[in-house]
Amino acid sequence: MRVVEVTAYGGPEVLRLGRRPEPDPADAPGRVRVRLRAAGVNQADLKIRSGRFAGVLGELAPPFVLGYDFAGTLLDPVPGLPVGTRVAGFVPWIQEGTGAGTYAETVLVEPGWLAPVPDSVDFTDAASLPLSVLTAAQALDLMALPEGSVVLVTGASGVVGRFAVQLAARAGHRVIALGDAGDAAELGLLGADGVVPRGAPEDVVTGVLGFAPERVDGVFDAALIADPLLPAVKDGGVFVPASPERMPAGEREIRVEAVAGRPDGARLREFLDLAAAGGLATRVADVLPLEEAGEAHRRAEAGHRPGRIVLMI
Ligand SMILES: NC(=O)c1ccc[n+]([C@@H]2O[C@H](COP(=O)([O-])OP(=O)(O)OC[C@H]3O[C@@H](n4cnc5c(N)ncnc54)[C@H](OP(=O)(O)O)[C@@H]3O)[C@@H](O)[C@H]2O)c1
Repeated sequence: MRVVEVTAYGGPEVLRLGRRPEPDPADAPGRVRVRLRAAGVNQADLKIRSGRFAGVLGELAPPFVLGYDFAGTLLDPVPGLPVGTRVAGFVPWIQEGTGAGTYAETVLVEPGWLAPVPDSVDFTDAASLPLSVLTAAQALDLMALPEGSVVLVTGASGVVGRFAVQLAARAGHRVIALGDAGDAAELGLLGADGVVPRGAPEDVVTGVLGFAPERVDGVFDAALIADPLLPAVKDGGVFVPASPERMPAGEREIRVEAVAGRPDGARLREFLDLAAAGGLATRVADVLPLEEAGEAHRRAEAGHRPGRIVLMI
């Protein structure tokens, strides 16, 4: 099968189209094969490819196949999901430690990672959801704030942050979104009560306090800004960074706990159904063929993408 391999740690040029044997379900009892049609390009893919995450990969070293998110069709049946069912999910790439990611024609997955994709959701949109929406949801779980709390979401113009804004609003929180000024109207439609444009940290804090003079109960920091945001958080509040790479120092009994996205097929199914019903918006910035994974990484690394970049397989 065709795959895109990371041949060595480095820039996007280390991504090469290659061939690997099709995975055999006999090698991993209980797992099923998915013939992929789309794979999302996540920020973690860039960090792994560059070598920035080499320390957490254990024995695993290039060459390996990147990729968390996938959408495609089942090649093996799962109870309730016959062969041919359109499915999506994500492979917990680092925890798996196999280097068999989704920049590939076929992957082997746990049935519990999968959710069926409603007919009205195309493969590219489906591949933009799994890791990002589940991480946003699990970040809100970690916050464990009562309904009506004031929540700041940073990186709200990005994929994970946009989902977090929507889910926090659905949970009944008052949401302050830190995002691009040009996205203010859209973030309002998605549920933000206030939008603070990105800028110097002190201006951001002033902007947040303008909406929440008492300070916020919780922060989901999808932009990984960390310590400069602490003055906007209440004593005893909660701060959830999107990655342990940037943890703010604890102070004033603010609980700091990074989120680590975990697959959850049942919950993903709810989100895909919600997306199909128009209750959850996703954005795909670019769709490129698998063999242009290097260009996809260049674009993702340049930033300012209005959504997920997806590889078509
Ligand atoms: N823990 C997990 O399991 C998990 C899962 C998924 C993602 N993540 C992490 O979550 C983060 C967000 O992921 P993503 O997919 O949403 O990435 P993304 O789509 O690139 O979103 C990040 C957003 O933050 C914005 N941003 C960067 N610096 C900012 C600042 N100082 N102020 C305000 N906004 C700022 C970016 O804008 P520009 O692009 O214009 O700079 C972008 O809109 C990444 O670090 C990713 O690795 C963690």
